[in-house]
Amino acid sequence: MIKSCVIGWPIRHSRSPIIHGYWLKKYKIDGSYDRKPVEPNALQDFIAGLTSAGFTGCNVTIPHKEAVFDLVKADDDTTRRIGAVNTVYVRDGLTHGTNTDGEGFIRSLLQSAPDFSIVHKRVMVLGAGGAALAIVNALLEQGAREVAVANRTIERAVDLRSRFGNRITPISWEKIADNLSECSLLVNTTSLGMTGQPELDLDLRRLSDRAVVSDIVYTPLRTQLLKNAADRGNTVVEGLGMLLHQAVRGFSLWFGTIPEVTPELYDIVARDIDPAHQ
Ligand SMILES: NC(=O)c1ccc[n+]([C@@H]2O[C@H](COP(=O)([O-])OP(=O)(O)OC[C@H]3O[C@@H](n4cnc5c(N)ncnc54)[C@H](OP(=O)(O)O)[C@@H]3O)[C@@H](O)[C@H]2O)c1
Repeated sequence: MIKSCVIGWPIRHSRSPIIHGYWLKKYKIDGSYDRKPVEPNALQDFIAGLTSAGFTGCNVTIPHKEAVFDLVKADDDTTRRIGAVNTVYVRDGLTHGTNTDGEGFIRSLLQSAPDFSIVHKRVMVLGAGGAALAIVNALLEQGAREVAVANRTIERAVDLRSRFGNRITPISWEKIADNLSECSLLVNTTSLGMTGQPELDLDLRRLSDRAVVSDIVYTPLRTQLLKNAADRGNTVVEGLGMLLHQAVRGFSLWFGTIPEVTPELYDIVARDIDPAHQ
């Protein structure tokens, strides 16, 4: 049996076992995928003992993504630029790490907004945390002309410019609404709007009604930001799509099959988040 898992601290809310469990069943693979709570001070030993514990790899979530980067061989440029790992896999006795958050975001975006092209566009990203790093990098790789990054702690947005170069424009949190008029895409990567967190209170009046609005928060499935944007006619992209698409490459690395993100899978995970989901 091929074994994988997701590690984090805490880990009980992770939906990844539902996603990988669905694919293992669908493709009739003799494998398992579990949640493993790993405390920060046990992380190094867990990664070093991955193979001897019978695992072919694992997913990595909060708060371990940056720490795992230093414990594995990061062999692609994207992962090295981001400095964080969400997928670990073992090959020829060596433990490798990669990051699939950016590709998950882009695939979800293009699935929900198939006519949208990022090339030469101005984009606004709210937030400069771990998820923002992967998304900003992906937007630049896809050819965005400018990525305006607004963050409550402006220094973190300035750090992104130092890391990624002058296509990043740091914006202070109070100036978001003033900077929306030329944006083709608005992405929330902060935790605002998540169940249990304060709402993201944003005046969208200056945003073009042709702009695409994306929120990577997926509890609730449709945040207030997305409801407000949809009400004024913007195409919206829900965060659950990114979660499903970022899982594809890990499954394929561990279990040898490229899995499909199906509407049935979307509905299963969506119902776990919101039992009223139709
Ligand atoms: N859909 C997916 O697949 C996916 C993947 C990864 C993450 N996520 C979601 O994305 C969100 C962020 O995750 P992360 O890993 O990037 O977290 P993180 O590294 O902790 O970053 C959190 C970000 O939110 C901002 N923030 C938090 N509270 C705020 C407030 N009250 N006002 C303004 N800004 C605030 C932080 O600003 P400061 O820098 O000022 O603290 C920072 O930019 C979470 O909700 C997570 O569940 C979704």
